[in-house]
Amino acid sequence: MGKVIRVRVPATSANLGSGFDALGVALTLYNELCFYEDDGDGIRVEVEGLGRGEIPTALSENMASIAMAEAAALNGTALPKSGVLRLINRIPPARGLGSSSAALAGGIFLGNVLTGGGLDRQAMLNAVTKLEGHPDNVAPALCGGLCISVMDGGRTITQVVSLDEELSFIAVSPSVEVPTERARAVLPQTLAYKDGVFNVGRVALLVTAFITKHYEHLPYGLEDKLHMPYRLPLIPGGAKVLQAAVDAGALGVTVSGSGSTIIAFATKNEAAVQAAMEDAFMQAGLTASGHILKACNEGAKLI
Ligand code: HSE
Repeated sequence: MGKVIRVRVPATSANLGSGFDALGVALTLYNELCFYEDDGDGIRVEVEGLGRGEIPTALSENMASIAMAEAAALNGTALPKSGVLRLINRIPPARGLGSSSAALAGGIFLGNVLTGGGLDRQAMLNAVTKLEGHPDNVAPALCGGLCISVMDGGRTITQVVSLDEELSFIAVSPSVEVPTERARAVLPQTLAYKDGVFNVGRVALLVTAFITKHYEHLPYGLEDKLHMPYRLPLIPGGAKVLQAAVDAGALGVTVSGSGSTIIAFATKNEAAVQAAMEDAFMQAGLTASGHILKACNEGAKLI
């Protein structure tokens, strides 16, 4: 029997309102990637769970296998000649909960273990940011916690902040998908100066609210003028779901990543917030299912 390697990687919620393309938080919902070396005929990808039959399994198209191959290239070592890469998916695909970043982060982490372990987390982060195009989901998928990230040339600079158990994240995903390309295509090419200024204060307040646990500042810190006004109309019932979460007692609420999941923040009444959000989606004609999650302070890791 050849090598068997298992990696766990968390879901992530990017942007958090005002932190467009810069903030992301890892959550306690996980995908697993397993590699079983064998003496068969090459590497094959299998998908179990969510996205089975939709996620491509060709090596050149599957994000996890692309990232695994990138780790091998950076380590200058070949991957095992043959084996199965099994993706056990619990993060809903194309819903704004970081499924593609989980595949990239998990894939590079697994590929690094298989090819000598020469890459540290910074090297893996630089590589997957390049593959993804922005760091907000890949950083927490690799590092855990709340990540504040910027790109500087080919390097990703990330500050990780651990969050505590008191805060819950209620992520409700409707049946409708919003592909990230579509959600980025609706964004304007230019912005009013005052809208930029609006976001600067909000994002500073938001990060500080998480660090100091002044959660009463979350509703202000989550406000955004860079992407939310353009994207919310892509989610049927979106505005009503945001309102339903607040009415049911959430501290704040926003679109997760580029949608379609809506994510609320609460320290109590979590089940009522989830039910109210699911109900608001139902009234818009969509089925929806939610998770009550916590921040996960660990990124991709061997299990
Ligand atoms: N920051 C990204 C966006 C996250 O909102 O487009 C989704 O990839």
